[in-house]
Amino acid sequence: MSQTSAETIYLKDYTPFGWTVEEVHLTFALHPTKTRVKSRIRFVPNPDVPPQEFFLHGENLTLISAAIDGATIPPKITPKGLTADVPVGPFVWESEVEISPETNTALEGLYMSNGMYCTQCEAEGFRKITYYPDRPDVMSTFTVRVEGSEPVLLSNGNKGDAGTGFAEWHDPWPKPAYLFALVAGDLVNHPDNFKTQSGRDVELNIWVRKGDEDKCAFGMQALKASMTWDEEVYGREYDLDIFNIVAVDDFNMGAMENKGLNIFNSSCVLASPETSTDDNFERIEAIIAHEYFHNWTGNRITCRDWFQLCLKEGLTVYRDSQFTSDLRSAPVKRISDVIDLRGRQFREDGGPLAHPVRPESFVEINNFYTATVYEKGAEVIGMLKRLVGDEDYYKALDLYFTRHDGDAATIEDWLNVFEEVTGRNLKRFKRWYSSAGTPRLTVTDKFKDGRYTLTFKQETPPTPGQPQKKPRVIPIAVGLLGPNGDEVQPTTLLEMTKRQQSFSFEGLASKPVASILRDFSAPVVLEHERSNAERAFLLAHDTDPFNKWEAGQALRRASLIASVTTGAAPDTAFLDAVVRVARDDSLDPAFRALVLQPIGQDDLAATLHAQGHTPDPQAIYDASETMAQSLAQELADSLPRLYADTTVDGPFVPDATGAGKRALNGRILYMLTRMDGGAQARAQFKTADNMTLKLAALNALLGQDTGTDEAENFFQLWKGDRLVMDKWFAAQVALAKPEKAADVAEALTAHPLFTPKNPNRFRAVFGALTMNHAGFHHSSGRGYALLADWLIKLDALNPQTTARMCTAFQTFARYDDTRRSLAKAQLTRILSTNDLSRDTTEMVTRILEG
Ligand code: ARG
Ligand code: ZN
Repeated sequence: MSQTSAETIYLKDYTPFGWTVEEVHLTFALHPTKTRVKSRIRFVPNPDVPPQEFFLHGENLTLISAAIDGATIPPKITPKGLTADVPVGPFVWESEVEISPETNTALEGLYMSNGMYCTQCEAEGFRKITYYPDRPDVMSTFTVRVEGSEPVLLSNGNKGDAGTGFAEWHDPWPKPAYLFALVAGDLVNHPDNFKTQSGRDVELNIWVRKGDEDKCAFGMQALKASMTWDEEVYGREYDLDIFNIVAVDDFNMGAMENKGLNIFNSSCVLASPETSTDDNFERIEAIIAHEYFHNWTGNRITCRDWFQLCLKEGLTVYRDSQFTSDLRSAPVKRISDVIDLRGRQFREDGGPLAHPVRPESFVEINNFYTATVYEKGAEVIGMLKRLVGDEDYYKALDLYFTRHDGDAATIEDWLNVFEEVTGRNLKRFKRWYSSAGTPRLTVTDKFKDGRYTLTFKQETPPTPGQPQKKPRVIPIAVGLLGPNGDEVQPTTLLEMTKRQQSFSFEGLASKPVASILRDFSAPVVLEHERSNAERAFLLAHDTDPFNKWEAGQALRRASLIASVTTGAAPDTAFLDAVVRVARDDSLDPAFRALVLQPIGQDDLAATLHAQGHTPDPQAIYDASETMAQSLAQELADSLPRLYADTTVDGPFVPDATGAGKRALNGRILYMLTRMDGGAQARAQFKTADNMTLKLAALNALLGQDTGTDEAENFFQLWKGDRLVMDKWFAAQVALAKPEKAADVAEALTAHPLFTPKNPNRFRAVFGALTMNHAGFHHSSGRGYALLADWLIKLDALNPQTTARMCTAFQTFARYDDTRRSLAKAQLTRILSTNDLSRDTTEMVTRILEG
């Protein structure tokens, strides 16, 4: 660890910057290794802040010159920036620096991807472009001149002058530096336009490399749908004359909401039926919406400091999930979100990396772009909306937008508008932002003289730095069903505020069956001992789609846990109930597909661990396989009929109806492949004219340890398409048998198309390896060792992606001594690497110290 890398930043230490920035002028003379950046910045002392030393952030910059009010000065360069003596009053700072985009493999700041210049400044990348107060509470207008020979030169805001070799851009909306963007390259656009509700004409473009033009139409449609939706639902209109989206191949994350110039990982914007699956289409639609929605929740109102990240991310995730629910199916979206929440956020919340939705300290902020900040942050907003009701929610949002437009705001500001609108005191509710860990909610019930009482107890296990937990406010949506399946109590919201609390329902003729935590009304683990008969009853009769699905999950989970711990055969109550759902044509195919979806093996390991067992990944794998085989057998007679019924005819349309049918069709094919030796899957692979069907067939075959010819054929067909090749790399590793997974991954790292420099490709192989639960955690330790080898290599190139991939190890302490010590040895080896990045050092340290 270098001496400059160990500093911890605390929320409690926040102090405002001593100056306001009135305007920023930047000139870029582009060159792959010698880009020159000139800045002219007007600073005005902030009268509300005691005088402080003038400090500008700056990293990896070669200073050419610096001047204050036109007079050259010698600033003092420090490892993280510079300091200078400045006048007491306002002044103009000018500097020129040199940077090297081509050698910037960290993909942060200004870098090159396939010959194209692009930027990623969130969170702290702008300081790698020029000297600047690189903090979100410093907001300014930007005027940018880009000089380069590239045909397309873009930056934020509206167009200014342009001519051969240069283009100027002006962004009239004050913004923090993390929203700055620049793109230059030989790009082509997919153009369109939009008229806002007040009549502003907006030019829209999706910019891509030549050859990708035919993959933009869907993204454009999603953008326009997002613009309309935000006007209709939140009354928010776009505020510039132009909105540009650019697709970039090398990108650490999904996408970035830079003002007027969103930059996307090409995997999150390019779509065509031949190359993208239904899941890809839905994800692309959601991410385009997400980045667009940031224009208000993130850009017009930004964060005071990075501890407030959930202010924009939680809210924007919440908004994009509302959008998807409105455009597609609300129950399907809710179930999918909960699967994702349990798989990623509960996992994080229950281990060494657990942190509050609003963290109180960090070493490297990039390590806090987490499922907790994003997804749990969105859940917290969902709870708030449930508690105050829709009407007050939108009133509070209107107040938030009017009061804080142009501000760098805090969670306190956010909660204040809710308190003002509703008259509620949200002090206790605020614990959701400050306390880490997933509450466990246990419930018992009693029926006597027509009165049904539910008693809840909440308890949150300790998390790093937080040994004791206070009770939280938990909105619990409950409905009651009578013995014949009729709903005798429609959904009602119980507000739990204490450690233990009872709620009663009067006047019931007989003991009801309770449907608890409907629509997953709070991000908690519900522990409810009940019979399989009751669960099957709920799967058949619950009117709440989430809990109907959840009842099937509970049956399946109980059966799998019994198989792993006692060797029991799959439970017949479960098999019967699921077979009934699968065959029930009155149910939405997408819902049936979700009921048939296996429970993740990592999720099962977490459940076993929580119940005091030491999870054995191989045993979990075996039990899951046995369960899948039994299900296929139970359904065997119906599989050909179901396969035929769920086949979608006609041209591919990526809408919810078609996607739902294809999802069920894919599940059926997977089961069929267990029964027919792969005949149907081979046939489908040959005739499929879209990627959803093609990949479903390939996956079904690979899942049965066959399909080598198809994999080769797929490669020959698609070797020229980067995004499709990522699917090819991932599928082979994800579906490999546990004992082969590390070998398959290692062999693929020797493939000519493998490169650690492209995060998508690296994740295709290693993300798939870590998601192959029994493969990654194989008792040989080969999975751990291979990942560690490559993380060490990647860290020298790209710390951000390395640190993120380290999270694969976060659950290591759950497992047996052998695995624990194998994993620990690899973590220790990573940590002892010379010049290990701050990002990876922090992650590995937290995992080891957990
Ligand atoms: N604000 C972006 C998004 O949600 C994420 C960018 C994060 N990038 C990073 N390097 N930390 O949508
Ligand atoms: Zn975001």
